[in-house]
Amino acid sequence: MCGIVGYVGKKEASPVLIHGLSRLEYRGYDSAGVAIIEDNILKVTKCKGRLANLEAKLEQNPIHGSVGIGHTRWATHGEPSDLNSHPHSNEDETISVVHNGIIENYIQLREWLTAKGYKFNSETDTEVIPHLVDYYYKGNLEEAVIKAISKMDGSYAIGVVSTHEPGKLVAVRKDSPLIAGIGEGEFFIASDIPAILNYTRDVYLLNDKEFVVITKDGIKLLSEEGDEIKKDIFHVTWNADAAEKGGYEHFMLKEIHEQPKAIRDTMTSRIALGKPITLDKITLTKDQLENINKIYIVACGTAYHAGIVGKYVIEKLARIPVEVDIASEFRYRNPIIDNKTLMIVISQSGETADTLAALREAKKSGARVIAVTNVVGSSVSREAHDVLYTWAGPEIAVASTKAYTTQLIAMYIIALYFAQYKETLSSEQIEEIKEAMLKLPEQTEEVLKHKEVLQKFASKNYMHRDMFFLGRGLDYAVAMEGSLKLKEISYIHSEAYAAGELKHGTIALIENGTVVIALATQEELFEKMVSNIKEVKTRGANVLAFAFEGNETIEKTVDSALYIPKTEEVLAPVLSVVPLQLLSYYMAVQKGCDVDKPRNLAKSVTVE
Ligand code: G6P
Repeated sequence: MCGIVGYVGKKEASPVLIHGLSRLEYRGYDSAGVAIIEDNILKVTKCKGRLANLEAKLEQNPIHGSVGIGHTRWATHGEPSDLNSHPHSNEDETISVVHNGIIENYIQLREWLTAKGYKFNSETDTEVIPHLVDYYYKGNLEEAVIKAISKMDGSYAIGVVSTHEPGKLVAVRKDSPLIAGIGEGEFFIASDIPAILNYTRDVYLLNDKEFVVITKDGIKLLSEEGDEIKKDIFHVTWNADAAEKGGYEHFMLKEIHEQPKAIRDTMTSRIALGKPITLDKITLTKDQLENINKIYIVACGTAYHAGIVGKYVIEKLARIPVEVDIASEFRYRNPIIDNKTLMIVISQSGETADTLAALREAKKSGARVIAVTNVVGSSVSREAHDVLYTWAGPEIAVASTKAYTTQLIAMYIIALYFAQYKETLSSEQIEEIKEAMLKLPEQTEEVLKHKEVLQKFASKNYMHRDMFFLGRGLDYAVAMEGSLKLKEISYIHSEAYAAGELKHGTIALIENGTVVIALATQEELFEKMVSNIKEVKTRGANVLAFAFEGNETIEKTVDSALYIPKTEEVLAPVLSVVPLQLLSYYMAVQKGCDVDKPRNLAKSVTVE
């Protein structure tokens, strides 16, 4: 993962880099560092731990200069330590590099360079890069970087500065995200837009093996052959406020509260009563859809959980068989794909390495690919045939919330779009679901009002070591997401179980006082769910249940219950996940956990 940032301009680089890194910390926070050229000398400050440690070091020993690079790390090769922190430099400290990605052939390169007399200080794969650039440097930095990357296998977004050409920054990407920002007499590189949004909203979205060469006089883009290329400037429509906490204690809480708006925005211009569903960026024709006999939904983490809901709803509403797969499994299991296969990849960032690789595999085998992503211009959006954007706005907290609910909306939209084409639902049925969807933003506001009940429940139960989430059908899919949220941010061990399956093993773990969160929104399965709840109650569980308003009879069976506004059953996940997100949040806060930056995790996983 990791985040990189770079600056060339008139300002002091140090505060610009630190600000950029603070917006990229979601990508990793094992260590941070900067390299700045001060009076033609390369000055590197880096250290293990959060950005605050680096800031403190720089306060004690400031570096002055207006050309620099910065890095925030999520460790892959080499433990988090001062030594393994980026930037990494060559031996005489004339060339410095920040890197996001993995150099897969670094061992061979290390041996090759060692044989040529180069010495290594760290355990990282990255350290081969400054040495390679040094080896190839013959008076032109971009030429040296072009040669260096021709030796490298794997994924990278790199930024390089050198005292040989002190006013220059060279950057390039392959399979790791990178953008370049164009300001007034100043230029930037970054792994993601929020890092530079305080300074400019005009960016270049770089493709693989496109090079950026920045000097104070301007920015140019080069192909891997070294030829100059032209590209359109992408104007970012959201501003820096969207990436600030806006009065909330944590980004996660802010993002949970942004869900009504995010859901509304994702439906806007796509869902309107009395009108067919229109998806401007999906060009799949009726004939092409008729030809599809199987859909794969492929994703990772929370996006995978949205995919599980997608399977239920597409099969139910559009009657097309759907398989859901974890991207890292899908890409290596040689799935059966041909030109009758449709793949839907779901990815908030649009940059997850395994998801991107799975997309490429499927395309190679002839599948048509729809990407559901939150980031305009992201790799999956560019490589898929069709795109459906979730308009959630920037999601900063590592634990995904509004991205998930908008991904659910995307699943409903796709399912209804297919149902409309395939006529598997009558127009009245489609209208009913659309009508219910349009009420979801308001109903989500209602659910958010239950905050205090959940806060109280969390304060009583946060010391538990284990918790269980139960559900059937769509409730089971939501239970998985609730369980993931809880373990991600509160470190409480939890498992989600299909309620009917519990008795085949996991029920052995239920004892006096074990907390069980039971979801019971699916009408047809309600009675069966109540029986499963009784099974755990009999064994001493403390059960908190979620059901639709009107199903208050559940109170006879459980210890406490919380009700969500009535909607179409198929849409229940959008509303029932919200209290689960809040519950995890309050559990984590009670435990004193770092909610927005949980240990060992990163938001964007751009390595395998
Ligand atoms: C990481 C994040 C999760 C996210 C997953 C997939 O694990 O911590 O929140 O769901 O990656 O990310 P994507 O950007 O592909 O949705």
